[in-house]
Amino acid sequence: MKRTTILLLILAFGLSACDGPSPSKSREAEAASRQLVPKDPDIAAIYGRSCSSCHTVAATGAPLTGDGAAWTPRMDKGMDVMVDSVINGFGGMPPFGLCMDCSAEQFEALIQFMATPVSSQ
Ligand code: HEC
Repeated sequence: MKRTTILLLILAFGLSACDGPSPSKSREAEAASRQLVPKDPDIAAIYGRSCSSCHTVAATGAPLTGDGAAWTPRMDKGMDVMVDSVINGFGGMPPFGLCMDCSAEQFEALIQFMATPVSSQ
């Protein structure tokens, strides 16, 4: 085998390895999450400028909007804990989820919306 062929094979393998275990599944969940918008226009505006930038992008590690399976174990911790996670920051999420002037009630509405499975929206 020629040296360039080996290099190409290594490159091809390296690129495919970056896709992770189930790229099509997370792409579907991403596409589904991007269709969803909160019904309340004020909440929709906050969601559009803050939360959606991460919660519709699987690579951020954020539970995707409408992905019931990702949200159920988190919601089991209780709404108060969820709101505290946003206010204090949690893992890859910065404090306030990038909405510095949001109230606890607005966070609750945003979380309720994001955690509602696609099939029930
Ligand atoms: C910069 C990216 C980013 C933004 C913006 C963001 N999040 Fe997150 N969020 C994340 C990530 C990443 C996680 C998962 C963190 C982990 O599990 O380590 C997460 C997790 C959460 C959780 C679950 C916390 C828990 O205790 O399990 C809630 C609730 C949440 N986000 C709400 C929001 C809300 C509401 C907004 C908008 C106001 C928002 N996020 C904006 C990245 C973001």
